[in-house]
Formats: sequence, C-alpha cells, structure tokens
Amino acid sequence: MTDENPDATKATNHLNLLNAGIITLDDIIAAGASVSRRSLPPPAASAAGAPVAAASRAAMDPIKVGASRDEDKKRVVVDGKAQVRAVFANLGNNYTVKGYGERSRKGFGDFFLGMDAGPERDSQSHDINKAIQSITAEEGFTLGLKATRAAYDTLDDEATTDRTWLEQVSDTFKRAPMHAFDAVSSYMVAAVTKDLFGIPDGELIVTAPSRSNLTAPSCCPYDFKVVSASLFKPDPKPEVVSGGPYLGQLLAKQTATLVARLRAAKTPPPGRLMQVLFDNIPPVEDDRLVRTLIGTMMGLPGLKAKIADMGTELSYDHVRDLLKPAVYKAMQQIPVPEAVWRIAAHDHVISGEKQVAVKKGDMVVVDIASATNADLKDNIADVSAIFGGSRTGNGKRPTHACPGYEMAMGIIYGAVAVMLQRA
Ligand code: HEM
Repeated sequence: MTDENPDATKATNHLNLLNAGIITLDDIIAAGASVSRRSLPPPAASAAGAPVAAASRAAMDPIKVGASRDEDKKRVVVDGKAQVRAVFANLGNNYTVKGYGERSRKGFGDFFLGMDAGPERDSQSHDINKAIQSITAEEGFTLGLKATRAAYDTLDDEATTDRTWLEQVSDTFKRAPMHAFDAVSSYMVAAVTKDLFGIPDGELIVTAPSRSNLTAPSCCPYDFKVVSASLFKPDPKPEVVSGGPYLGQLLAKQTATLVARLRAAKTPPPGRLMQVLFDNIPPVEDDRLVRTLIGTMMGLPGLKAKIADMGTELSYDHVRDLLKPAVYKAMQQIPVPEAVWRIAAHDHVISGEKQVAVKKGDMVVVDIASATNADLKDNIADVSAIFGGSRTGNGKRPTHACPGYEMAMGIIYGAVAVMLQRA
C-alpha cells in the first residue's frame, strides 16, 4: 500500500481500525445470533463512542466445556468445542438429522440435508455437493465482487433522487451501518443466486429483502432466509414456525413452474448449479429437482457480508491476506448459524467437565457460537464449526458439512472488499 493509491490507503485505514477493534465487523456482519448475543453484555460505548470490540466481548464471555441436559425440556445443549465437533462427526451414529426432514416436509418437502448417511442420501447429494464444492474460493471471490457491485448498482438505480442510494442513506449509514449493509447483503445474495441458479427470475421469484404480504411471487433472499431459519434454528420464533412452511410451499410452487418452463424451452437453464441439477435429475423427477434446488439455495442467505476496500483490480490472495484476521474474528465472535440441532438416536453419554447422560429422542442443540468463541479466546482462527465441520480435514468428515465453504469464504471476501470500497 502506498500513498499514490488513495483507495488502497483507505482500505488499510479500515483494516487497521477493524483489526484494532475500533470498528467492528460484527456490527456489519450477520446479525441475529441470539445464543452468542444472549450471553453477551449489551454493547457498551467506548471512549470514542464506538461499540466495544468483538474480541473484548468474547473475553468477557465465560467459555463452557461440555454439555448440559434439561430433563423437563428433554434437551441437551452441547457447548464445549470438542463436543460440538464430536456431534458433527457423529462417529457413534448417536445423532439423526431427521428433525430437519420433519420440518421441511411441512414446507417445500424432503431434501438430503434432512436424511442421515446412507445410499438414498448419497444418491441425492453426491453430484450437487460435488459441483458446489468444486467452486473455488477464487471463483467465489470474483462472484462476490460482481454480485456486490451489482447490489450497489441496483440500490443506486432504485434511488428516488439523483443522489445515489448510499448518499441518501449516508446519515443513517453512519449511525447504523448494519442497516445499510443488511440491504446490500440481501441484494448481493440475490445476485449470487441469480448467477448460480438463475433465481430470482424476476417474475415467479423476485429480488426482495423483505415482504409485506404472503402472496406470490416468492421473494429472494427473504423467503429462503425464513425457510432456512424455520429448519435450522433449534427454537425458531413463532412467526418463523408458521411462516417457514407457508413460504416453503409457495417457493416449491413458484419454482416448479419455473422448472417446467425451462424444461419446455429445451434450452440450457441459466446458472451453473441449476445446470448440474438439470443434468443429473431426469424430468420425471422434477419434484425432487425443485426440493433439492430450494434446499441447496437455503445455504446462501447465510452469506451476510463483512466489509473492506482496495482498488478496483482486486486480487483474491491480497484481499484474503488483508481481511482474514478481521473476517475470521467477526465470524467466530458472532457465527451465523449460531446453533444447529440434532435428535439423539440412542442413549449415550457426553463427557466434558461432567458426564452428561443423553436420552434417545432428546433435542441436541449444537452451540456453534460456544465453540468458535472458545477458539477466539485461545487465538485459534477456525471457522469450520460455522459450516458444520470441514469436508477436507483429517478424520471422518461430518456427513452434512457444508460443501459451499470455499465458495462462501471467497464470496464473503469479495463482498467485504466492495463494501469497504463504498463505505
Ligand atoms: C457463509 C455461508 C454459509 C454457511 C455459514 C453455511 C453453513 C452450513 C452449515 C452449518 C451446514 C450444516 C448444517 C448441519 O449440519 O446441521 C451447511 C450445509 C449445507 N450447505 Fe452451507 N453454508 C454456507 C454457504 C453455502 C453455500 C454458498 C451453499 C451452496 C450454494 C451451501 C450449501 C449447503 C448444502 C447443500 C448443505 C447440506 C450438505 C449435506 O447435508 O450434504 N452452503 N451449511
């Protein structure tokens, strides 16, 4: 970085502020992490008026080691980092994801994430997971840059005066950056899904960060976000419990119409991942194609961005090296998802600070935030728990570990870079 490049200098300043904890990525990054937020004190103002840095909040948070069981609720919360990893690895087949399946069947239908390891799950997940996993971080980065620039352009196009959207919201933006970044993230996610799946198509499924009624068309990413929360959250809010299945059914209907139109057109469908689904699922099974498509797309609303800026010619390696400490810190501090869940398939014991007896049928809440907060405290940069474990590490890989990890990190770096550029 040199003085000749004002963009680069600006980026370095942002990064220094981020890394020094003077501004926080967690205010910019995904919100709604109730497990970690619940256990944190309310944000206090620092001398400069900025929120207390993420890392120092983590330091105040007691790190737990193991698990605890609530007999009345038949629920076990797993909050030790070794124990969280053990649930994901599921070596003793003690856990089942059938609860996801039960919930998704009330909405858009069955999807392989709701199926335990076995031949049926393998046949439904293999090709699409392989295709997702083959998208590199560098490709994700390029996609993140493109999608985030497109998001700003869309917001600028929709601005009601000749001032850009960012100029119009700049006062709000300064006071509440999360609000502005939330809007950008939503449009960015829709641009990413458009690129990968050809959705939103603009008619049956439209770009919308929120909705004011429950009628067609479906909204991207909003509806996917609600459907996803209704499945993954151990305790979704009542409106999500009822809205998730409803919006899931609507998505299934709208998507089925879109797929039928694409089949009838006899031309290659838009989006490289949509193409993989069309290549691998025969038209007689379009019902499964629709369910797999919606289930796969649910991963994307998790892409809430974290922010940075350099020049317009951004190299992935450079951006990653600059941003990694701050991005990892922010992701580990407030992971999204903060928790996922399983059902205990057998009676067994989880060993931690104390031995915890788990009964068959218990809901097992995997407190991802506790694991990532513990790593943060130990200065370990590791976001794998946020993705349900790693598909590439040593040992047995967790069956459901996210195949989109590499791509997602690339997209996040790309989005962060463009957002800092515009901040
Ligand atoms: C920041 C972004 C993302 C996060 C934090 C994330 C997180 C996760 C997590 C935690 C799981 C496992 C859930 C569990 O074990 O209970 C998962 C699974 C999955 N994710 Fe992601 N994901 C992200 C991005 C993506 C993207 C971009 C895609 C694809 C386009 C994707 C597709 C999937 C699929 C298909 C599964 C199911 C895997 C299986 O059961 O075989 N995800 N993701």
